[in-house]
Amino acid sequence: MRISRKRRRQWIGFGLGIFMTCIAYVVLSMPNNEDFLSKGPMNTGHEDLSCESCHTPAKGTVFQQVQANIMFTIGLRRTAADFGTENVDNQKCLDCHDRPNDRHPLHRFTEPRFVDARKNIGVTFCESCHQEHNGMRITQVDIGYCRNCHEDTELKNDPLEISHKELVEQAQWSTCLQCHDFHGNHLYEAAESLKDTIPITVVRAYFDGGPSPYADQKKHYPLSEAEWKKKKTAAKKAMGKKKK
Ligand code: HEC
Ligand code: HEC
Ligand code: HEC
Ligand code: HEC
Ligand code: HEC
Repeated sequence: MRISRKRRRQWIGFGLGIFMTCIAYVVLSMPNNEDFLSKGPMNTGHEDLSCESCHTPAKGTVFQQVQANIMFTIGLRRTAADFGTENVDNQKCLDCHDRPNDRHPLHRFTEPRFVDARKNIGVTFCESCHQEHNGMRITQVDIGYCRNCHEDTELKNDPLEISHKELVEQAQWSTCLQCHDFHGNHLYEAAESLKDTIPITVVRAYFDGGPSPYADQKKHYPLSEAEWKKKKTAAKKAMGKKKK
């Protein structure tokens, strides 16, 4: 029996198609396929977290995600679907880092009066100051970013030898972080004299991943990955009960 050349080419094409599909299937279904795409060293404190603690799988199968995004592209769906993993938004961070007494809770800054701060430093997103995969603690380079909101700061009985009003007038914006932390999560008291401030080089080293110059003790500690998993399972169980 002879096989025509055309037939043979068809069979080779068919076989190649199956082969590629198999490879794509295997790669996409591996739980850790993100490992092949690693982005850079984890930030301070995140060295031991698994990728999945932030990059949670997106809803639906890969096929459904592709389908949803095609529908979106041709205008039959209003929103694009996350592909592979969900976007790492503030809520992902707050799942572990929720601090009830954060002195700068980001949701407050959606108010109209913070429009410039949003434009200048994107103050409603953790990521604006803590970009991940950089091997550091804080990626915000402007140490004096307090200027975006504290130009009117004035204290009634100011304890400082050079008052806050004067510091602002002299645009001494880099001094703020030399006395105050941003979130107010360290257990310590701010200095009252400029000669007792934390040197700016030490603040920068802390941004880069060095020890905290404010205090070793914190008011709130983040959840570990194990605690976070437990919380998630408990939440799922509660949801399941409600449905019944
Ligand atoms: C602490 C949270 C966190 C962890 C843990 C984490 N990432 Fe990310 N990753 C992010 C954030 C934030 C981004 C920015 C893009 C986004 O929002 O999806 C990002 C982006 C990425 C991107 C670029 C794709 C994109 O959507 O822009 C890749 C690739 C990536 N991460 C891989 C990994 C791998 C591999 C691991 C495990 C070794 C990991 N990540 C662990 C937070 C994290
Ligand atoms: C699964 C839980 C978890 C998630 C999700 C998570 N973190 Fe963390 N994070 C931790 C733990 C645990 C530490 C280390 C403990 C510590 O340093 O207090 C840490 C440390 C940090 C630190 C350094 C703290 C310090 O004082 O050195 C920053 C900043 C931080 N995380 C920001 C973020 C941001 C921003 C996100 C979202 C992109 C995020 N984290 C997501 C658990 C988490
Ligand atoms: C406008 C910039 C900015 C934004 C937005 C921001 N941070 Fe920070 N963050 C800082 C600075 C500056 C420090 C260092 C001073 C300090 O320790 O408070 C810091 C320190 C931290 C620390 C270590 C000290 C602590 O409080 O335990 C954690 C954890 C942290 N940030 C998490 C977050 C999370 C989670 C978000 C989003 C909900 C967020 N940050 C949003 C600037 C920011
Ligand atoms: C997006 C605006 C914004 C930015 C940026 C900002 N703050 Fe604030 N800050 C506020 C608001 C709003 C308050 C609440 C006080 C008020 O209502 O006047 C506040 C309060 C404070 C307090 C008093 C907290 C308390 O518990 O009484 C300190 C200290 C402080 N900020 C320091 C800083 C420092 C240091 C920086 C820069 C690293 C900074 N802030 C950046 C808006 C901001
Ligand atoms: C030499 C240290 C020092 C410097 C520099 C400094 N502060 Fe303060 N600040 C203090 C002390 C001390 C207090 C009063 C006690 C407290 O609230 O911690 C205070 C209080 C505050 C308050 C709270 C006011 C209130 O109503 O309770 C704000 C807001 C503030 N500072 C913002 C700033 C900003 C913005 C800068 C930068 C221009 C700055 N501070 C620079 C030490 C300092």
